[in-house]
Amino acid sequence: MPLSLTNHVALVTGGSRGIGRAICQALDAEGARIIVHYHRDLAAAEESASTLQSPATLVHADLGSTDSITRMVGSLDEDSLDILVNNAGVWKPTPLGSTSEALLDEVLHINLRGMFWLTQALLTKLRDGARIVNISSTAGRVGIAGGRSLYGATKAAVDSLTKSWALELAGRRIRVNAVAPGYVETDMTAAHLSDPATRERALIRHPLGRLGTGEDVAKVVTFLCTDAAAFITGQSLNVSGGFVI
Ligand SMILES: NC(=O)c1ccc[n+]([C@@H]2O[C@H](COP(=O)([O-])OP(=O)(O)OC[C@H]3O[C@@H](n4cnc5c(N)ncnc54)[C@H](OP(=O)(O)O)[C@@H]3O)[C@@H](O)[C@H]2O)c1
Repeated sequence: MPLSLTNHVALVTGGSRGIGRAICQALDAEGARIIVHYHRDLAAAEESASTLQSPATLVHADLGSTDSITRMVGSLDEDSLDILVNNAGVWKPTPLGSTSEALLDEVLHINLRGMFWLTQALLTKLRDGARIVNISSTAGRVGIAGGRSLYGATKAAVDSLTKSWALELAGRRIRVNAVAPGYVETDMTAAHLSDPATRERALIRHPLGRLGTGEDVAKVVTFLCTDAAAFITGQSLNVSGGFVI
């Protein structure tokens, strides 16, 4: 059973930093050629690409803008993609009572609308038998305090898209799965976890006794992209040290 991803081309959104960078590195280590997507941070995307064994391509898009996504897809040289990892996202507070319409749109557009539009725009480039992995969150499965209800709702929607896309694309043997991390130490959570009391509360919610790493998530994404997961589709796997069981 071929478990290597040699000769596979993988587009990773938000591959510039954090979990996305770890996913680029893990797929690259299995032999895939990586297209690193970024939004604002070109330097981080270049740094991410420089850590890979195979030469990578960089692509830019604001996932909050359908025009920007359409332009990025139009600029791709590759006609046949093997792997799409929908990883990019934002974790902005949207407290009920003080959230502006602009912020509501921003979170919805980047985390949900962008993922839908990009996947749709890439459908003709994804080869039959391709794999899609969406990065969800345990926040989509439980109530969350702290004014991030909309974030949780977008991630619950990502799990829902994953199930329905698995059915919609099964005829082309495209497998669609999701990975749902708990707390992972990245730029996204750095400020939040810098408060010792908040960090302690987060730790307590992870029965395995530590917070997650990008590598924890990336290993499972890679597994889902290989033929070891050839009969797995429509699933969302918690990678959260027991945060949600
Ligand atoms: N960290 C956690 O604890 C955790 C837990 C559960 C789920 N997740 C999910 O895991 C994914 C990655 O999170 P992370 O912790 O690695 O976050 P991160 O370090 O903040 O990185 C976010 C990535 O998303 C990209 N991005 C942000 N806004 C964008 C936009 N408008 N258009 C396109 N790309 C955009 C960024 O690109 P630039 O750098 O170029 O701006 C960056 O590559 C997210 O979907 C997140 O919700 C994270």
